[in-house]
Amino acid sequence: MTQRYAATTLRTHTCGDLRSEHIGQTVSLCGWVAKRREHGEKLAFVDLRDFSGVVQCVVDNDVDVRSEWVVRVTGVVRARPAGTENSTLATGQVEVGECRVEVLNIAEPPPFPIDARADEVDEGIRLRHRYLDIRRERMQRNLRVRARVNSSIRAAMERQGFVEVETPFLMPSTPEGAREFLVPSRKEPGSFFALPQSPQLWKQLLMVAGVDRYYQIARCLRDEDLRADRQYEFMQLDAEMSFVTQDDVLAAISEAVMAAAESVTGVRPPEIERITWREAMERFGVDKPDLRFGMELVELTDVFSATEFKAFAGAASIKAIRVDAATYPEQAAYGRNKLDALTDRAKKLGAKGLVWLKVVADGQVESPVAKFLSDLERSELLARTHATEGDLVLVVADDWATTCEVLGQLRNDIGRPPVHEGPYRYVWVVYFPLFVGADPNTGRPRPGHHPFCHPHPDDIDKFESDPLSVRALAYDLVLNGWELGSGSIRIHEPELQRKVFNALGISDEEADRRFGFFLQPFKYGAPPHGGFAFGIDRLTAILAGEENIREVIAFPKTQSGADPMTNAPTPVDAGQLAELGLRLLPPPAQ
Ligand code: AMO
Ligand code: AMP
Repeated sequence: MTQRYAATTLRTHTCGDLRSEHIGQTVSLCGWVAKRREHGEKLAFVDLRDFSGVVQCVVDNDVDVRSEWVVRVTGVVRARPAGTENSTLATGQVEVGECRVEVLNIAEPPPFPIDARADEVDEGIRLRHRYLDIRRERMQRNLRVRARVNSSIRAAMERQGFVEVETPFLMPSTPEGAREFLVPSRKEPGSFFALPQSPQLWKQLLMVAGVDRYYQIARCLRDEDLRADRQYEFMQLDAEMSFVTQDDVLAAISEAVMAAAESVTGVRPPEIERITWREAMERFGVDKPDLRFGMELVELTDVFSATEFKAFAGAASIKAIRVDAATYPEQAAYGRNKLDALTDRAKKLGAKGLVWLKVVADGQVESPVAKFLSDLERSELLARTHATEGDLVLVVADDWATTCEVLGQLRNDIGRPPVHEGPYRYVWVVYFPLFVGADPNTGRPRPGHHPFCHPHPDDIDKFESDPLSVRALAYDLVLNGWELGSGSIRIHEPELQRKVFNALGISDEEADRRFGFFLQPFKYGAPPHGGFAFGIDRLTAILAGEENIREVIAFPKTQSGADPMTNAPTPVDAGQLAELGLRLLPPPAQ
C-alpha cells in the first residue's frame, strides 16, 4: 500500500511499511497488540500488527497493553541495535522507540493465537471466530489475492468489450444440473423461487437481446455435498458472446485467466495449450488432466490381441502406466500388501482386476501373471512402456472408458502433487462428447453436459448411427488437475435443437414443457453464440497456494454445510413458516 492511502487522521504509516529509510521520522501507527515481552526492568517490546504486517515498538514497562488490544502508538523510527535485527520480518531492520501508547480499545484474550499457529487449530474454531482468523497474515494475503483476481478479470473483460449485466437471484426452478436452493413465496404460498445455479438462462437471453458480449462476476448457488473445491455459494466469471466460434471464446477467457494469474504471480502464463477430450482420456485417463507430471497411459491392446491370458483375451482396451523407480522410488518398490491394496482400489474404481509387473534384471518381470505372458508379449510390454529395472508397471484390461478412468485415477493417486504446487499447467480440453452412456431406463444417450451444447458440425450425421462418438463444441479449462471452468457453443437453430432432444428421447411436447421458457425466446432471432464460466474461488485458491477454497473465502461454510459463527442454518419460528404457507414434517426416523 502506498503511504498516500495508508495515512489517516489517526496514523501516518501502516505497521508493515516501516523500513530503514524511515529512520529518524516520528510516526503514528494503529493496530493490534500481537505480542508483549518484558525487556529488562524499564522497557517492554510490543509487536504491533495491522493488515500490512508487524513492527516492533519499544515502550515503558508500565504501559499496560495485552494481546489483541487496539492501540495507537506514536514514536520515532530507529535502527535496531546491531545484532538484534530480524531478517524474517519485513520491518526487521527497524523499531519504533520513545513510544507514547494510547489504548483505543481493550480485548478479551483470543481463543487461538492470531498467527501461523492457528493453522493447526480445529477449523470449526477458526470459522466460529472468522473475524479473528482473518486478522492473520495468511487470510489477509488470501483476501487480497482474491481482490486482485477479481479486479484484473474485470479489467480484462472490459478491455475486450464485455458489458457487465446483473441477473436475477430469484428465478424459476429449472430441471437441469445440481440440486437447487429453493425460496418459498409468501405471495403465492406453495410456489417457490430457485436461487441460480449459474446465470446460464439469463446470459443466453441477453444474446437474443442483442447485448453481444456479456460478463458478470456472478454468485452461484448449488445444494451439493461440499468438498475442498466446492461450496454452496461460489463465484464465477460468467461470460457469453455472440457471432463467435469456439476459438473466440477460448481467446477471450484465456485473456481473463492470464491477466488474473499475472496480477498475482507477476508472470504471464504462456499461451494455454489445447488437447481434445479424447486425447486427454487416452493419455491421462481423465477429462481434467494434470500435466505437471508424466506417467501417461500406454496403449497395449494390439500387443495382447492373440493372448492366451484369460483376463486380457478379447478385452476392448488394454493400457498400462509405468511407475518410474527414479521418480517414485517408494511406490515402484511396493511390497505385496501395497500391491494388493492398489488392486482393491482398481476394483473399487470399476476394474475387474489389476495386473502388476515389477521389472527385475535383464528384461525379466516378477508378476503373479508372468507365466501367462508370452516372451513376445512381455518384451513388447516393456518396450512400449519403456520400463527398466526397478520400475513397476500396472495394466488394466476392460472397455475403453473403464481402462482409461481406472488407470487415470491410479496415475493421480501415485503421482499427483498438491494442487497449488507449481509449475502452473493450464490446458483447454476441447470437444467433449455430446452424449454419454445410455440411460438405464430409456436406453437413450444422456447429455454429456446439457442439451443446449452445439454438436461438432462434422458429426451431425452420426446422431443415429453412432451417437456416443458425436463431439460437442464444449470445452473445459483445467489447471493442475482441477476443473477451473467450462462452456460451450450453444445451439441457436430450433431444428438442430429438436434433433438433439429427439436423440435424447425428449419429445417436442416434453421439451416445450421442461424448457419452454428457455426455447420460446429463441424463436425471435437467436444469434449464434457461446460462452464460458470459471470458478473464481478455485483459481484464487491455486494462485494463493491453498488446497481448499474455504481458505480464500471470507466467510465459508464448513464441510458439513454450516456456518459455526452465525450457526446458520437455523430453525425459524412457526409464525414465519405459517406466513409462507409451510408446515414441517416430523424429522425422518433415524
Ligand atoms: P459449470 O457447472 O461447469 O458450468 O460451472 C463452472 C465452474 O464453476 C465452478 N463451480 C464451483 N465452484 C465452487 N463450488 C461449487 N459448488 C462449484 N460448482 C461449480 C467450477 C466450475 O468449473 N453455466 C455453465 C457454464 C457455461 O456453459 O457457460 C456452468 O455453470 O470452477
Ligand atoms: P483372475 O484370472 O481373475 O484370477 O485374475 C488374474 C490376475 O489378473 C489378477 O491379478 C487380477 O487382478 C488380474 N486381472 C483380472 N482381470 C483383469 C482385468 N480386466 N484387467 C487387469 N487385470 C485383471
